[in-house]
Amino acid sequence: MNEKYIDELLEKINNLKAQGEQEIEELRVKLLGKKGEVTHLFEEFRTVPPEQKKLFGQKLNVLKNNALAKIEALKESLADSQQGNAASGQLDLTMPGDKMELGARHPISITREEIISIFKKFGYTVAEGPEIEDDWHVFGALNFPPEHPARDMQDTFFIDNHDENKILLRTHTSSVQVRSMERMELPIRVICPGRVFRNEAISARAHCIFHQVEGLYIDRNVSFADLKQAILLFAQEMFGPDTKIRMRPSYFPFTEPSAEVDVSCNICKGKGCNICKGTGWLEILGCGMVDPAVLEASGIDSKEYSGFAFGMGIERIAMLKWQVNDLRHYFENDVRFLREFETVI
Ligand code: PHE
Repeated sequence: MNEKYIDELLEKINNLKAQGEQEIEELRVKLLGKKGEVTHLFEEFRTVPPEQKKLFGQKLNVLKNNALAKIEALKESLADSQQGNAASGQLDLTMPGDKMELGARHPISITREEIISIFKKFGYTVAEGPEIEDDWHVFGALNFPPEHPARDMQDTFFIDNHDENKILLRTHTSSVQVRSMERMELPIRVICPGRVFRNEAISARAHCIFHQVEGLYIDRNVSFADLKQAILLFAQEMFGPDTKIRMRPSYFPFTEPSAEVDVSCNICKGKGCNICKGTGWLEILGCGMVDPAVLEASGIDSKEYSGFAFGMGIERIAMLKWQVNDLRHYFENDVRFLREFETVI
């Protein structure tokens, strides 16, 4: 048995061309038929000395498989070209086209754009930043003490938990506010929309991925009254001119004082219903005056400047606006749900 002959035959097979059905069948017989070249080699294989059986066995198997595959490929391309010819012969240019299904914008996109356009009217610009962040921009610069529970694996997805400055998926877009403070000239007025990640079990009311819009305003003499007015104007643009707000004291490491903001329920007009659980109020965001330590961490003189910050979940606002009762609808992309937003611009 001759090694070179087998190699040459393999190359020949790989380069074979055949057109008609008959030509392909002839090729098949010539290679794999009873008296075919490949079949003949397999017969000859019986006489190969035992120490060469492995080498030639492998080579012959490759040869046979390639021959079979080649014949199949030739048959397929013949079928394809026949189909093509038939189709072009029957082409009817007067047939009506297929109806194109129009998509709808996702409710999260609609809500995000609405929030952004309201704050743009107030003079805010949009800032964006990375979803994969370091510990400094998500926690350190925001005055989170080292032992804060948010820094726990249970709340945060870490990518690299070993270094001094850990790498993680941002848990809020406050990280973009830190980047804005580091980079921008004062005064600063930015909103930071984006996707955030928290290590939560998925349910109707929680998800491990969601979207936020956070805002930051830093200038000389910014006061809590400015914050209150900005939030009131936003709430009235978003939920209607009669909307009222109330603030409850709260805590965030990066703001002092901090507050949680509720809006009057736009469904029952404050009378009490299922959505507001009979209270007449719906919680929409967290906010507060930027802690001087946070300003200083980003190199801003806290004796000269002050500021406020706020942050809200887009899913939460969208749920209140359209009374969606399960957060998971936003991520499953069931067209029956998405179609409901077709008429919303
Ligand atoms: N970063 C906070 C959160 O993700 C929201 C917030 C932003 C609160 C700014 C106060 C000020 O929950």
